[in-house]
Amino acid sequence: MTDTIFVLNGPNLNLLGTREPRIYGTQTLGDINANLERRAKSLKLELDVRQSNHEGELVDWLHEAMAKASAVIINAGGYAHTSIAIRDAVAALAIPVIEVHLSNVYAREHFRRQSMIAQVARGSIVGFGALGYVLALDAAAHLCKGAGASQAKSQIQ
Ligand code: DQA
Repeated sequence: MTDTIFVLNGPNLNLLGTREPRIYGTQTLGDINANLERRAKSLKLELDVRQSNHEGELVDWLHEAMAKASAVIINAGGYAHTSIAIRDAVAALAIPVIEVHLSNVYAREHFRRQSMIAQVARGSIVGFGALGYVLALDAAAHLCKGAGASQAKSQIQ
């Protein structure tokens, strides 16, 4: 069976391409997703790519991932720094969750230097722009390969 990877994007990421391009680059979310789809095809993975500006919807999608996904890639945008609800939903998942931020949040304003999600994610990729999503997908493929995601997770913990 083909592994499905959920790629979840949070608030304001629908504005990529025009939103603060000096920080977030000029690629749109559509560009990023098209590139990811190409990579997924070569890795023989299925993607389910979504974006929402609403915290609860992101929580619902994380719950949905429990039954449908082998791994989750999430850029929760500003919610990464504030949302205990998203943090708790990530913590509830047995599959690997990889956090992505386009910008290097640790080199920016003080309020961005804490991620609720980093504390419960399998790992975080920050500061590599759109490439970060591809790196996260490669990591997800690695974690899903062979033994299966949950077993791979238990080997490291
Ligand atoms: C971001 C970083 C967040 O601090 C910010 O609120 C975003 C984008 C990033 O990808 O660099 O919306 O998640």
